[in-house]
Amino acid sequence: MRILVTGGAGYIGSHTCLELLNQGHEVVVVDNLCNASEESLNRVKELTGKDLTFYKADLLDADAMNEVFDKEKVDAVIHFAGLKAVGESVAKPLEYYHNNITGTLILCDAMRKHGVKKIIFSSSATVYGDPAFIPITEDCPKGKITNPYGQTKSMLEQVLTDLHVADPEWNVILLRYFNPVGAHESGRIGEDPTGIPNNLTPYITQVAVGKLKEVNVFGNDYDTPDGTGVRDYIHVMDLASGHVKALKKFADKPDVYIYNLGTGRGYSVLEMIQAFSKAVGHDIPYVIRPRRAGDIATCYADATKAEKELGWVAERGIDEMCQDAWRWQSNNPNGYRS
Ligand code: NAD
Ligand code: WQD
Repeated sequence: MRILVTGGAGYIGSHTCLELLNQGHEVVVVDNLCNASEESLNRVKELTGKDLTFYKADLLDADAMNEVFDKEKVDAVIHFAGLKAVGESVAKPLEYYHNNITGTLILCDAMRKHGVKKIIFSSSATVYGDPAFIPITEDCPKGKITNPYGQTKSMLEQVLTDLHVADPEWNVILLRYFNPVGAHESGRIGEDPTGIPNNLTPYITQVAVGKLKEVNVFGNDYDTPDGTGVRDYIHVMDLASGHVKALKKFADKPDVYIYNLGTGRGYSVLEMIQAFSKAVGHDIPYVIRPRRAGDIATCYADATKAEKELGWVAERGIDEMCQDAWRWQSNNPNGYRS
């Protein structure tokens, strides 16, 4: 298939472009580079030995989006583009709602005008809020979401569902990611956050490489085996292959399909620090701090629906996640900027 990948220069997008090219698909990327570098796409080309088409364009620019669809005859869209920092979204709700919601509305309008009605959307386990039960199946009710970023995910799921109701030709796949980590095994592409990372694993790797002093462990009094938060960390290459497998669903009757992409296994913050220490070859220093506002104790997936319906399972374990994240970080201490 010929796939338009929005946000394709970003962390998950670049790994998915690589997997798409390796599986024989053609790729067109639209990204405004607000949180990415074109270098990631150069490296995807280098790693695959294949070409892709890149448009530096903003989803908020309707003319630019229509022009892309005028020029490129694509079969489907994988929609990653969006702002994703939870804390920043609390401080800048208008920017987050505008970019993520309006950007998606403009994208879908351009798709509709050009008869492209197949979309895979990057959703998040955040839509479950503090989950009603664990492990979380897709039938778990959506929960109370504590930040604008998460709200945009939940609202956009609804927007895309309504689009299918209004026009049943729309085929919508909502992929709810758990906690993406790691990097391509080459160490050439990976996660490149600007400033101090908000997420646990880039923070750990920056401590390991000496850029940050110690890991702040947010709370050790949760109702979990060691008191620290438990999450379902999933290797970004497994996530990427989940998108490629999901494309097959477009051959089925158009509907709204929802899948959790996780491993089904939870690890605590201390277990992650331990696993990274092993990958890095020395102890990673940490201190226990108070809980972070909005955090929950435990979140991990039941991913059997994706296995049954997409034939997809996460294959890479925690050691590979840590080794690959470390290879990327140690080879590229300043990310794509070096
Ligand atoms: P990322 O920031 O690396 O990638 C997002 C990309 O979108 C960036 O390259 C950015 O430049 C681009 N972008 C943002 N707004 C744009 C706009 N208006 N027009 C064009 N391009 C725009 O983030 P990521 O971690 O790769 O996440 C990809 C998607 O997955 C996002 O929608 C995110 O919310 C979602 N998601 C991420 C996680 C995670 O933990 N990383 C978890 C669940 C869901
Ligand atoms: C993981 C665990 C923290 C940083 C977020 C978003 C979610 C999704 C994925 C996009 C928690 C602890 C963290 C640190 C720590 N993103 N922690 N010290 O919060 O599970 O999910 O990213 O959709 O929507 O909310 O991920 O990596 O921030 O935290 O102790 O410096 O690590 O308390 O238990 P989270 P995270």
